[in-house]
Amino acid sequence: MKVIIKENYDELSKEAAKMVEKQLRGKKNSVLGLATGATPLGTYKELVRLFKDEDLSFKDVSSFNLDEYIGLDENNENSYRYFMSENLFKLIDIKKENTYVPNGMANNPIEAGMEYDRTILENGGIDLQILGIGSNGHIAFNEPAKSLSLGTTLVRLAKATIQDNARFFDNIKDVPTEAITMGIGSIMRARKIILLASGKNKADIIGKLLNSPSITTNIPASLLLLHPNVTIICDKDAYSRVNK
Ligand code: PGA
Repeated sequence: MKVIIKENYDELSKEAAKMVEKQLRGKKNSVLGLATGATPLGTYKELVRLFKDEDLSFKDVSSFNLDEYIGLDENNENSYRYFMSENLFKLIDIKKENTYVPNGMANNPIEAGMEYDRTILENGGIDLQILGIGSNGHIAFNEPAKSLSLGTTLVRLAKATIQDNARFFDNIKDVPTEAITMGIGSIMRARKIILLASGKNKADIIGKLLNSPSITTNIPASLLLLHPNVTIICDKDAYSRVNK
């Protein structure tokens, strides 16, 4: 595992975008794993700039998002499909049919999850996966628990996650309580993983993750310590509780 510490959020975003750029310049038809949330926004902004100013093309790229809320369709401003369209897909030359987000409106989310994993495999697997981290250590919507699903499936959101994500909704009661999330196995099969952590509200969890490295399903992100090619990019605030 590699840890890169950057001065601030802007530098972190540029570093992450540079790694995506390197991946795409080396393999035009890369399969990207994408995340939503506040953290990757700066990375997407920089990728849009690279597309506009430096000929970085996404026309042969496929993408798979980590998760989607149950019950929100693509026109709902809080759906992750909407987030991705507004913040990245509409602004670059990726083909809509090559962008995959789990279907939060599926009649059978469990079946839809299995189908999602099959589609990832049919596309050759994920080359580069971008991840955020929840303040409770979740990755995607794999919440701390006794056991974690390997495959993409239906999950209930943890209280802490509902509270963290309420900032994006008018009212905490509007935050969906369930989601379809890529499973731990689906994430771990990615050939390369970048985990991004920014800000003081991530300092505790990054401290827990890095101070005495061990794995536990109570910190789902700790399972990444088993992956052969993970880079954690933190800004100074997120890194501030790691023992020097
Ligand atoms: P955030 O979410 O980027 O909005 O902090 C991260 C996550 O929950 O994975």
